[in-house]
Amino acid sequence: MSLSEKIKQLRQEFLAELNDAVSFKDFENIKVKFLGKKGPVQALMLELKNSSPEERPAHGKQINDLKVEFIALCDENLSRMKLREMDERLSQEAIDPTLPGRRHYLGRMHPVMQTMDRTIEILMGMGFSVRLGPELDTDYYNFEALNFAPDHPARDMQDTFYLNNEWLLRTHTSNVQIHTMEEFSPPLRIVAPGRTFRNETISARSHVFFHQLEAFYIDRNVSFADLFATMDEFWSKLLGEKVVTRFRPSYFPFVEPGLEVDVRCTACRGKGCRLCKQSGWLEVCGAGMIHPNVLKKGNIDPEQYSGFAWGMGIERPTILQHDIRDIRMFWQNDLRFLSQFP
Ligand code: DAH
Repeated sequence: MSLSEKIKQLRQEFLAELNDAVSFKDFENIKVKFLGKKGPVQALMLELKNSSPEERPAHGKQINDLKVEFIALCDENLSRMKLREMDERLSQEAIDPTLPGRRHYLGRMHPVMQTMDRTIEILMGMGFSVRLGPELDTDYYNFEALNFAPDHPARDMQDTFYLNNEWLLRTHTSNVQIHTMEEFSPPLRIVAPGRTFRNETISARSHVFFHQLEAFYIDRNVSFADLFATMDEFWSKLLGEKVVTRFRPSYFPFVEPGLEVDVRCTACRGKGCRLCKQSGWLEVCGAGMIHPNVLKKGNIDPEQYSGFAWGMGIERPTILQHDIRDIRMFWQNDLRFLSQFP
């Protein structure tokens, strides 16, 4: 076969393959196959030396033209395929600028946690350290060591979630008192925040779980006067103004004497309003001097040491601050409610 015929045949082969090609990859393969260093075009070039010197320039030009044509056809198809593949991709990835954007909401601190954090911060500023106790605890820590008599009504099945005879969900954060006394010796200034549980009917005013904060101070010569002064300072800091406190005798098994602490209503200054139910006072916490029996259970000698303690709910001050009418709203995870507390 003459060189001219070979060129003609190769051109036909090439055009046939080009005709069958559909993808970018196909055209790329053809280009490599025909124009590569070991491909047929290069082979023809090598054959040039067999041509007579007269024919050689013409044959050389023919092969060169063929090469230029091949390259042009390949490149043309390759760029066409590239455009088409980009078009396809773009049509799949297309963005619709008329779609409304997706809003990203910033997380916020839950209002109850805001009160909790603020309270802890104040007490840390007054020299208290934070201790967390277990939510799942034994009757011993929740009741017995806190001087609850075996037949005390607070142990009643109606109030306490018992798991069995021994284990329960703590009904107050006072359980941290004993745990801490067992681990550390006085002086102790501790604040114990956390979740507590009581088996009550869920309503606008009560829930089966709520949050409390227990604080206590044990050292030599801690007196009733220290408790009063601490209450005045603490409640003034928390409520953001110099408050008037009032102490009423009350009973809690783990303190003697026991008190209930009232703060003169910060909304009406004692005149009587809806917030204080016309009484002029807000009940804010229970408190008292830690009972010698409790100190003994914590391996602390009541002859040498004394202490005071107070325990408060966290939901209630939050409700007072924001005038929330239904305690259940705290735990419904409704963003319309939660987003109102920046
Ligand atoms: N633990 C009590 C309760 O849950 C609150 C309390 C009252 C805590 C008096 C105290 C205290 O430390 O002294 O109702």
